[in-house]
Amino acid sequence: MTVSIASSPRPFLHPRPGSALHCGKVSLDALARRFGTPLYVYSADQIVERLSLFQQALKGREPLVCYAVKANSALAILKLLADRGAGFDIVSGGELERVLAAAPQAVERVVFSGVGKTAAEIDLALKSGILQFNVESEAELALLAERATKLKKHARFALRVNPDVFADTHPYISTGLREHKFGIDIRHGLRIYKSVAGHRRLEAYGVSVHIGSQIRSAEPFGAAIARVSKLVGQLRSEGIALQAIDAGGGLGIDYHGGAFDAAAKVREYALALESGLGGFEGRLLVEPGRFLVAQAGALVARVLQVKRNGKKTFVITDAAMNDLIRPALYQAHHDIVPVTPRAGRPRLVDVVGPVCETGDFFAHDRKLRPVEPGDLVALLDAGAYGMAQSSNYNSRPRAAEVLVEGTRARLIRRRETMADLLGPERV
Ligand code: LLP
Repeated sequence: MTVSIASSPRPFLHPRPGSALHCGKVSLDALARRFGTPLYVYSADQIVERLSLFQQALKGREPLVCYAVKANSALAILKLLADRGAGFDIVSGGELERVLAAAPQAVERVVFSGVGKTAAEIDLALKSGILQFNVESEAELALLAERATKLKKHARFALRVNPDVFADTHPYISTGLREHKFGIDIRHGLRIYKSVAGHRRLEAYGVSVHIGSQIRSAEPFGAAIARVSKLVGQLRSEGIALQAIDAGGGLGIDYHGGAFDAAAKVREYALALESGLGGFEGRLLVEPGRFLVAQAGALVARVLQVKRNGKKTFVITDAAMNDLIRPALYQAHHDIVPVTPRAGRPRLVDVVGPVCETGDFFAHDRKLRPVEPGDLVALLDAGAYGMAQSSNYNSRPRAAEVLVEGTRARLIRRRETMADLLGPERV
């Protein structure tokens, strides 16, 4: 049986009842034996498909899909996306270096966001010739003007405005309210654009907005863009014609594995943006991260022990919070499935890692099919903000990463060794 990635929100499926979980056509059991665990596995096919959903849904708008590198910054994934026309949303000089290493030709499609850019980061971006700086304060705009003047470089900028729109998501990843550190109060936008009009090195290229992450409803995106378009109209009547609106990222996925039609979600999102854009005729930029890569990735871990403490059963895996911190940090839910199912009733268990913290858990009181030491489990929807937020806490080398393209699987990041960890240190 062939598994159509297009028809499923996840590329991870059992091709036949009782068989091992596969990523597309590749068995996770085989991958774990070949590359070890913990192991991140990504479906290139799904990532490419998700990119094209955005490109298609927005095609009337000369869109540029700037993938948010922070979601998953693997060089191979950046290259995959760049080769299909994606641009990139970066938030550090380090992320720019990644784009330059993976796809130098895509640097002209880079937008640079972030509330605290250093002069060195700005210089690197100016010299590299990125598309747009998303400027988050007046002080940053002054710094950008100073660096561009010094280096005799042209700087296209967009003010990142804060539209004061509420988006229902976890408080740590909501950004569009006045009380947040992000962006510039939209009411000051007109004045600030006017203050730099005619500057020799600064070009007011666009305006940007990003209201938060893992937002499931399309409505707040439309509301934010409507406020931004109003500002664009006011600027036009003052003789400042912006060429682009950058709508940011933030479109959410379903972490509970419910029915999820990705194409319909993106169309709904595109319609909301369209309704907010009104008569604006310029370019539309978007910065999706999670939506492109989250469901394409799983973290495969081996069960080390199944331990009973009083009434509780703990499934202890060789992956831990240093590999995937989302449950500990945001109380995030990730579905967990045994790679090769065993017979028997599901049991209520906690799935935890070996790190010495009670916060090191993947799931509390979760119904899981029976597992034994040595079995593999897959933590699903881990392609975004998984590896990218991993650490070496407890001196644990970071996991390896594998990219599956059709029937082929290739190692895109080898497992770290202790030499990698100890290298920078001196006794
Ligand atoms: N653009 C900007 C300016 C952003 O700050 C972000 C995410 C994105 C785009 C991409 O948002 P996305 O499409 O991925 O929702 N670590 C958290 C998510 C943090 C999001 C930060 N900013 C998590 O694991 O849920």
